[in-house]
Amino acid sequence: MKNIDAEKTERSILDRYHQKAQGSLQRHQQAKNNFPGGDTRSATYFNPFPLYMEKGKGSRLTDCDGNVYLDLLNNYSSLIHGHAQGDVLLQAQQQLERGSVFGAPSEEGIWHASHLSQRIPSLEWLRYCNSGTEATMFALRTARAFTGRDKIIKVDGGYHGTHDFVEVSVHAAFEKAEVSASRLNSRGVPACVLQNVLVAPFNDLAAMASVLAENEGQIAAIIVEPMLGAGGVVPAAENYLGGLRELADKYGALLIFDEVITFRLSSGGMQETENVKPDLTALGKIIGGGFAVGAFGGRREIMEVFNPENPDSISHSGTFNGNHVTMAAGLVTLELYDPAAVTRLNKMGERMRNGFSGAFTANGIKAQVTGIGSVIGVHWTDEKIVNGGDVVRGAKKSGNLSQLLHLELLNQGVFSSSRGMYILSTPMTEEDVDSAVDTFERTLKLLKPCVAEKAPHLL
Ligand SMILES: Cc1ncc(COP(=O)(O)O)c(C=O)c1O
Repeated sequence: MKNIDAEKTERSILDRYHQKAQGSLQRHQQAKNNFPGGDTRSATYFNPFPLYMEKGKGSRLTDCDGNVYLDLLNNYSSLIHGHAQGDVLLQAQQQLERGSVFGAPSEEGIWHASHLSQRIPSLEWLRYCNSGTEATMFALRTARAFTGRDKIIKVDGGYHGTHDFVEVSVHAAFEKAEVSASRLNSRGVPACVLQNVLVAPFNDLAAMASVLAENEGQIAAIIVEPMLGAGGVVPAAENYLGGLRELADKYGALLIFDEVITFRLSSGGMQETENVKPDLTALGKIIGGGFAVGAFGGRREIMEVFNPENPDSISHSGTFNGNHVTMAAGLVTLELYDPAAVTRLNKMGERMRNGFSGAFTANGIKAQVTGIGSVIGVHWTDEKIVNGGDVVRGAKKSGNLSQLLHLELLNQGVFSSSRGMYILSTPMTEEDVDSAVDTFERTLKLLKPCVAEKAPHLL
């Protein structure tokens, strides 16, 4: 029998979203003249149409209809100090007045790199690029050049950007039997990529060991996020990262940590908290102070492959690599994100995670909240989450609850991602956290008829 309350709730969520976001709807229709389906960035598109934001200040965003939101997305974690932070603005403006990029190296780049290497001792030498995608692409190329091997291993459900060699098994396998099968994630990526990109499930050292053993002498690198980010905000099990380090050493492969998201979780990234030293690290997001950025680096012996003083060095160019504005804004951003700021933000993240978790319990819903510090994941499942496959299975069994939660939070003035990822920024206060938790709890209460219809096993 149809659940009338669920239907009414769902319709009301959509109706109220349409009503409050007329200006965004208009712009979305207009955008269809320029972009396929009105979209130019897959992550920002969602059904029925995305919001168009007009401005941001601190932890608040204002959309083109004048609605104000608490920002719990922070551009998918790139904005550590929220929007238009005063010192960052000043540094960027002052640099813009002197010029943005000159086709020459920047001294600001030296300062920025020195700061990063001080925070992350494994980054003995590094290079800048313009996105996290480029950072992982070049980290992998570096590993291949250094080892003379072609194959790499990534984890099922791991996201490392959009270049061909990581567009493999990004959507984790629904079927447990398929977790170790490399699957193309996107049409247009050549099938030959699969010969050189192998996959193992996250948090499974035995599976990683067998892929390494089966391909002995052929693996250039293992690339892994220390906590699955886009794949579901799943932390590494105790000893997993250390175990990867031992396996990489045993088989002569390099270990690459993609800390594009996880760097924000500690002054020196998760390699510091987990006390595991990778050979190479990929960075992006917060290190650019709100501007496009990427960086990769590691042991000098490895990064030497780029040394232009060597006749067979690798060329790595990029029109905007290490540009002055990004470096200036990034440096002040990092300086402001000092150990005290990191600790405070992580504590607020814990408060929010516990709050969200308590809100599920208070509503009698058996869902879960995962993550570390300022990065939070919400999962509509009561089954244990260890890897990306667990996330995908939970999501599939809960219909469109994730979408409804996302839209109703928007209706209630909380901006987050449709995939259930919540990110904090330093201008947020404890009051902001508590108010977000209250909103979350209210929203769950409203959604209960939908939970009863779509995922009764969670009640
Ligand atoms: C872990 C990780 N690696 C790489 C990337 C790619 O970064 P970008 O979007 O800057 O290309 C992302 C982006 O979300 C990411 O989360």
